[in-house]
Amino acid sequence: MRTRPLKVALLGCGVVGTEVARIMTTHADDLAARIGAPVELAGVAVRRPGKVRDGIDPRLVTTDATALVKRGDIDVVVEVIGGIEPARTLITTAFEHGASVVSANKALLAQDGAALHAAAEQSNNDLYYEAAVAGAIPLIRPLRESLAGDKVNRVLGIVNGTTNFILDKMDSTGAGYQEALDEATALGYAEADPTADVEGFDAAAKAAILAGIAFHTRVRLDDVHREGMTEVTAADFASAREMGCTIKLLAICERAADGASVTARVHPAMIPLTHPLASVRGAYNAVFVESDASGQLMFYGPGAGGAPTASAVLGDLVAVCRNRLNGATGPGESAYAALPVSGMGEVVTRYHISLDVADKPGVLAQVATVFAEHGVSIDTVRQQGKDGEASLVVVTHRASDAALGGTVEALRKLDTVRGVASIMRVEGE
Ligand SMILES: NC(=O)c1ccc[n+]([C@@H]2O[C@H](COP(=O)([O-])OP(=O)(O)OC[C@H]3O[C@@H](n4cnc5c(N)ncnc54)[C@H](OP(=O)(O)O)[C@@H]3O)[C@@H](O)[C@H]2O)c1
Repeated sequence: MRTRPLKVALLGCGVVGTEVARIMTTHADDLAARIGAPVELAGVAVRRPGKVRDGIDPRLVTTDATALVKRGDIDVVVEVIGGIEPARTLITTAFEHGASVVSANKALLAQDGAALHAAAEQSNNDLYYEAAVAGAIPLIRPLRESLAGDKVNRVLGIVNGTTNFILDKMDSTGAGYQEALDEATALGYAEADPTADVEGFDAAAKAAILAGIAFHTRVRLDDVHREGMTEVTAADFASAREMGCTIKLLAICERAADGASVTARVHPAMIPLTHPLASVRGAYNAVFVESDASGQLMFYGPGAGGAPTASAVLGDLVAVCRNRLNGATGPGESAYAALPVSGMGEVVTRYHISLDVADKPGVLAQVATVFAEHGVSIDTVRQQGKDGEASLVVVTHRASDAALGGTVEALRKLDTVRGVASIMRVEGE
């Protein structure tokens, strides 16, 4: 074993960084044995130097992250600050000064992954980011490496623990959205401002990263269709149950049936209770991968939290250090397929539509005609009437989102349709 240590700069020492430092210290001997050289924490960059940080030698702490990455003797920079800047500049500066980078930063990778990969490649360094998607769950490396010989057709994931916790509460207790969100906040599962989670921004960033790797195609954050889950109601869960389904916020990356394009989207969807993703409870994450040769694979585990996320960071750190000792780099960006990324209109799926209609003869026929005119075939219809008003629940066969959009627009124009109470896609069948 080499005795000269590999030097690691830790940028950020918050929820994740604290655990990275702790595991580096407590597992130092095992890490050294697995890597073939000891790893030394050479510096820790933070914003507030005066904060007491258990287990961190205060002499290592600095507020000058730029100087730390420019030192010239750093082998690996671990970026767990988050956000776009200064993280982006620090990472590119690290490459320029000969260091490889391990990051947990989904926002940055989704926005600037291509440029960062190019910077890593030009400087002959590694860029690893297993922790950026679904915390502890090994996903990036299985997609990049284990499935490199297969053809992935679909990735269907619950990649945000906060929203899964809320939806699971609504499902199991009959609570409304706000009540479930309040409980998630009280228990620390939701942040004071939950927008990034409940509006699907966090999941969309992960979907962009996953789609890019799965389909060997650059998928930008803007390419991901995004709908939040704030409008899911207790009534939607009741409808879902009647269909033998539950509701999850899903990140869905799909290859079109003809293989010529891909789509990436995040939205709430009904999913059959028999689907493995339906049993993912609480704040857990899971990703279901469908590919030509392997068939169906499911990756499941804690998608966030200091120690679970640090586990993924440390796995990357070991891999990057091994590469360094071998004078090699791991796999970089693979975007050779360069498939076009289609918009939401091209997505083909099933729909559950709940309409408020007048309770009089002929309404059902009128509604059915509108569906037929737009080429959307109906699977089932359920009608409930009360005091001259009725609700009509229509479940369709597979149709394009564009066709469904046209259908709904036409339905809204019917005198007998008082309103479209909800539209939900049905996935995983
Ligand atoms: N938390 C999770 O469960 C989780 C899961 C998966 C991925 N991630 C990702 O991991 C990253 C870190 O998340 P976190 O939850 O650990 O965040 P956090 O608790 O807010 O920690 C951020 C750290 O960065 C430091 N920092 C902020 N601005 C800085 C600057 N300009 N220069 C130097 N240091 C700076 C902060 O310093 P102070 O300590 O002085 O404030 C803090 O130590 C993010 O990219 C996040 O998306 C987190």
